[in-house]
Amino acid sequence: MSVRPEPLLAVRQLKVQHRLRPMRPWAPAVVLRAVDEINFNLMPGETLGLVGESGSGKSTLARALVGLNPIAAGSARFQGRELAGLDANAWRTLRRDIQMVFQDPQTSLDPRMRIVEIVAEPLDYLAPELGRDARRHRAAETLERVGIDAPLHARYPHELSGGQCQRVGIARALVVRPRLLICDEAVSALDVSVQAQVIDLLMALQRDSGLSMLFITHDLAVARQISDRVMVMYFGRVMEQARADVLFEQPRHPYTKALLASVPGTDHALRRQLLLAGESPDLSVPASGCAFVTRCPMADEQCTRRIPPVQRLDDGAAVACHYVAGAQNWSVSRSAPEQRGL
Ligand SMILES: Nc1ncnc2c1ncn2[C@@H]1O[C@H](COP(=O)(O)OP(=O)(O)OP(=O)(O)O)[C@@H](O)[C@H]1O
Ligand code: SF4
Ligand SMILES: [Mg+2]
Repeated sequence: MSVRPEPLLAVRQLKVQHRLRPMRPWAPAVVLRAVDEINFNLMPGETLGLVGESGSGKSTLARALVGLNPIAAGSARFQGRELAGLDANAWRTLRRDIQMVFQDPQTSLDPRMRIVEIVAEPLDYLAPELGRDARRHRAAETLERVGIDAPLHARYPHELSGGQCQRVGIARALVVRPRLLICDEAVSALDVSVQAQVIDLLMALQRDSGLSMLFITHDLAVARQISDRVMVMYFGRVMEQARADVLFEQPRHPYTKALLASVPGTDHALRRQLLLAGESPDLSVPASGCAFVTRCPMADEQCTRRIPPVQRLDDGAAVACHYVAGAQNWSVSRSAPEQRGL
C-alpha cells in the first residue's frame, strides 16, 4: 500500500485579522477579517498559485505564514510544527526553511550594501557555523544560479536593473536553501521578457531542489504556467481550489468564472454576463453567508444566510458554493473540510 506524503504546510481554519485605529478616540477599534477560516495543504515540491482580486487577503495570508502578521485563530503547521503563537526566536530558526520574496525588487534591498553582501547576509545570522569565506562563496554561487554573473557581485542595487534586483531578491531568499518559498507578486513589477526568465528560473530551481512554493500573482496566465494547483480567494475566503489545468479549463465557482472572464480575449457575451457589479463584502462584520453573494449572478436567499460548505468534486477540485455541484450534477463528497485540508 502506498503511503501518502505528509503536507509540508497544512493550514486549517486559519484567521488573520487587521485591527484598524478608530476614527474617533472613543470609538471601538474596527477588526477586519482579512483571512477568514481558510484551509489548504501544500505538498513537498508543489507550487500552489494564489489568485484573487485586490483586497482578497493574499498578502495578509503570506505575511502570516512568515510570522509578519499574527495568526488570530486556527492552525498553520509547517513540517508538523505549529506556526501560530511562535515567538521571535522560534521564527529566527524557521527562516532557514521558510523564505519570502516581495514585490518591489529595488526597495527590498539595502542600498548601502554590495549585491554579494546582501545575499550573504541571511547566512551571517542563520548559518554562522559556515565561516565567512564559505558564506561569501555560497552567496556568489547562488547569484550565479539566478543569472547574476561575478562582475555584478560587487555592485550596489541602484547599479542594477529591476529584473536583476529581483533576481538578487530571489537569490537572497534561496541562499539559505529553504523548503518553502513564498512569492508575493514577485514578478509583477518586471517587464514581460524578464518576467518570463524569472519564472523559468524559479521552475528550474524548484525541479532541482524540490522546493515548495506559494506563488501569489494577479496575472492568471502566470498562475497557470507556474502552478500545480491554484487557490482562488475572495475577501478573506477560499472560493475554489483545483489543479491548474482543471481550474482554467473548467472553472466551477461563479467567482472563478468571473475572474477568468476578466482576462482580455474572453468571449464578450460571457464577460457581460459575468461582469462583476455590486458591493464588496464588509470585512468588519462577522460573515453570515457567502462572501460573493452581493456580486453573484446565481445568488439566492440561502446564500445570504448560510456560508457555503466546501464541496469536493471527482477531479479533486474543491468549491465553496451551495449550488455549483448540484447544478452540474457532479458527485460531491461532504466529509469535513478540515479532514481533507480544503
Ligand atoms: N496593515 C494593514 N492594516 C490594516 N488593514 C490592512 C493591512 N494590510 C491589509 N489590510 C486590509 O486587509 C485586506 C486584505 O488585504 P491584502 O493586502 O492582504 O490583500 P491582497 O489580496 O494582497 O491585495 P493586493 O492584490 O492589492 O495586494 C484589505 O481590506 C486591506 O485593506
Ligand atoms: S453560494 Fe450562492 S452567492 Fe455564493 S457563489 Fe454560490 S450561488 Fe453564488
Ligand atoms: Mg497583496
